Amino acid sequence: MDLKEIENIVKKKIEAARDAAGLEAVRIEFLGRKGTMTGLFSELAEMKGEERKKAGQELNTLKQYIMTALQQHVKELEGVALGKLAEQEKLDVTLPGTRPPLGHLHITTQAIEEITRIFAQLGFYRMRYPEVDWDYYAFEALNMPKGHPARDEWETYFVGRGTTRNVSLEHIAEQRGNYIEHPKFGKMVLTPHTSNGQVREMERRKPPIRMINLAKCYRRQSDVSHVPMFHQFEGLLIDRNVAVTHLKGTLEYFARVFFGPERRIRLRPFHFRFTEPSFEVDVSCGVCHGTGYVHNPSQPPLTLRGGEKCRLCKSGWLELAGAGMVHPNVLKAGGLDPKVWSGFAFGFGVERSYMMKQGLRIDDIRVLYNNDLNFLEQF
Ligand code: PHE
Repeated sequence: MDLKEIENIVKKKIEAARDAAGLEAVRIEFLGRKGTMTGLFSELAEMKGEERKKAGQELNTLKQYIMTALQQHVKELEGVALGKLAEQEKLDVTLPGTRPPLGHLHITTQAIEEITRIFAQLGFYRMRYPEVDWDYYAFEALNMPKGHPARDEWETYFVGRGTTRNVSLEHIAEQRGNYIEHPKFGKMVLTPHTSNGQVREMERRKPPIRMINLAKCYRRQSDVSHVPMFHQFEGLLIDRNVAVTHLKGTLEYFARVFFGPERRIRLRPFHFRFTEPSFEVDVSCGVCHGTGYVHNPSQPPLTLRGGEKCRLCKSGWLELAGAGMVHPNVLKAGGLDPKVWSGFAFGFGVERSYMMKQGLRIDDIRVLYNNDLNFLEQF
């Protein structure tokens, strides 16, 4: 074969090679042990004198050419690759950065902060009393003696021995049965309401008292309007000559600021052992707007009260709070003379209150603690 022709073929093949592997294939084809050039060199053995010398020179020149061409093309390919890399990794430091996602406070925490602020405007300071407390503060000091049936309403969790292995138990004199029990203060409970803060606050300081105790509470219940762990805030005001009107004014002020001026509130006579007189405080439902029915938007309402029964309130009103004038026995338990001092107390559910806030439509309270970001990120 004509050497010039071989040179042309090699040239084309090298140019066609796209990467190092392609070039290596060309090298093996022409310079390898069984390659074209090796074959040609072996033919020299059959030649003689001038002819052999000339052919040898020509072959060496071609071999040299191929080696140089290969090397050059390797460099070219590297250059192309580097160029590509530079293009890909180009860094424009003037471009705006990507912001890391910012979280926000859970809606319950937001509600707690708002409630605290509203009551601070009325001169109430915030306290936090234990969420694991003695029967005495949760019940007995609140005019509910041991075995009193009124206690049943509180669906109480009692703390068993096994659950407190890591808790400091210095002041627990005795453990009886499966329950942790104090000889004077009785069983240890997860507080079913924040009312345990009432007598504790009276023991801490002399009146005037204007306290909000805001804490977690626990009850054995779970449905569309109950979670087993929830929050309450307890208002306690003690002074001279406190009347029901003071209580009503305070509740109305809170309702108007927190829920919005169009939400209605009502007091219903009720019974609590630790207040006398006692009331239940209701607020008009924000889902059905006090009607008790929710319209299905795909069907035109036939009557004003048409649609499905509201899953949240069933009657148009949502029970939010218990309230009343502090019972004389509770004042006595707190070391106060009922002839000198009087006061009112109220206990609200934080989650319920927040759900009832203007514009918020949640028909199952448990979504608050399902940790579903699709839900939580809306607030
Ligand atoms: N502790 C009561 C409850 O959990 C509410 C309440 C508080 C009632 C203060 C009266 C006074 O239902």
